Amino acid sequence: MSRTTATGQPSSTADATANATASATANAIAATEAHSAHNYHPLPVVVATGDGAWLTDVEGRRYLDMLAGYSALNFGHGNPRLIDAAKAQLERVTLTSRAFHHDRFADFCTRLAELCGMEMVLPMNTGAEAVETAVKTARKWGYRVKGVKEGAAKIVVAGNNFHGRTTTIISFSTDREARLDFGPYTPGFEIVPYGDLTAMEKAVSENTVAVLLEPIQGEAGVLVPPAGYLAGVRELTRERNVLFIADEIQSGLGRTGRTFACEHEGVVPDMYVLGKALGGGVVPVSAVVSSAEVLGVFRPGEHGSTFGGNPLACAVGLEVVAMLRTGEFQQRATELGEHLHRELGLLTGTGAVREVRGRGLWAGVDIDPVYGTGREISEKLMAKGVLVKDTHGSTIRIAPPLVISKEDLDWGLDQLRAVLAG
Ligand SMILES: Cc1ncc(COP(=O)(O)O)c(C=O)c1O
Repeated sequence: MSRTTATGQPSSTADATANATASATANAIAATEAHSAHNYHPLPVVVATGDGAWLTDVEGRRYLDMLAGYSALNFGHGNPRLIDAAKAQLERVTLTSRAFHHDRFADFCTRLAELCGMEMVLPMNTGAEAVETAVKTARKWGYRVKGVKEGAAKIVVAGNNFHGRTTTIISFSTDREARLDFGPYTPGFEIVPYGDLTAMEKAVSENTVAVLLEPIQGEAGVLVPPAGYLAGVRELTRERNVLFIADEIQSGLGRTGRTFACEHEGVVPDMYVLGKALGGGVVPVSAVVSSAEVLGVFRPGEHGSTFGGNPLACAVGLEVVAMLRTGEFQQRATELGEHLHRELGLLTGTGAVREVRGRGLWAGVDIDPVYGTGREISEKLMAKGVLVKDTHGSTIRIAPPLVISKEDLDWGLDQLRAVLAG
């Protein structure tokens, strides 16, 4: 692992260089503040390049990326297989729109459906679009197949969910910041506490067309539901003729040590909603994957996207599916994840760390607020060359690319220990 090295220049030249690069960071941040909407609060680092689990900023400092684009970068920065697939496709054709067929589309849909053990795919671009697609699909299935009265369809969701940022999706969020000032909200959703099967049973009625859940709630702090919950939801939805939609946008595609987090409970939902890592961190690729009965409800003109399923997206997505078929990344997430959780477990209850949750190479670490907010801990880690992201006050999320080496992971954990030791 090579860290920032001294330049070896005479000190005045070195100082001038240091000032110029420091101002490169300050200038980029100032320009961002001035010209970009303040809908994010990034850490004060300006990334220039990435390679595997590492990022380099505009001043040449290296950072271990322990966030991995919220799991969009499961295969690491600049993964050679994905970059080669993208480059090859860039030379051929990048966009046709769905007005025409193209020669990557059928393969992508077929292989992705196979990976999911499903029959049909509806590709979109971002995660939120895929969730919107899932909502529309479930409603249409409810009216056309289940026989729910037009306009009466209900979807049951969980408290503390995070499914994206569109107006319909924030309508069923319980996060005040995500909703405030964005009403009026879309009706047709019922919110029950996550992990509470009894509440779910009560909420499901004859008008319920779907239950939409994250198998592990990422944004809420990597919350793993109680054992048996997902299996219970599966049984309930099957009994009541309700679709079980698993939003695996963050939890899926290797992160937890399985292709899908639902697998940990032996559960197969009726529909997967996928995104993030499906585009390998190269292009936005998302999809709804389900049975022919469910996705078969659509007719031409009823749903779509100019970019959804474009040739470049399909070429990269195909390579992602091929990489996941080997099981190599799931295996890495399992092995390194066991190591990560063992190490974090040693920190739990011994001072700064109150609780650690997660599965595979994914952890939510609750810090005792006495030791600082999640943001403060993240900034201190940044100063030590590790990038993470806080969530909900005093929780930090650890989700490095699955290609990270054990040595680098250990180095990152050393920095965390050092920061928590004050
Ligand atoms: C579980 C889940 N669903 C949906 C989304 C939304 O995805 P996107 O930001 O690509 O719209 C996210 C993003 O973090 C997510 O974690």
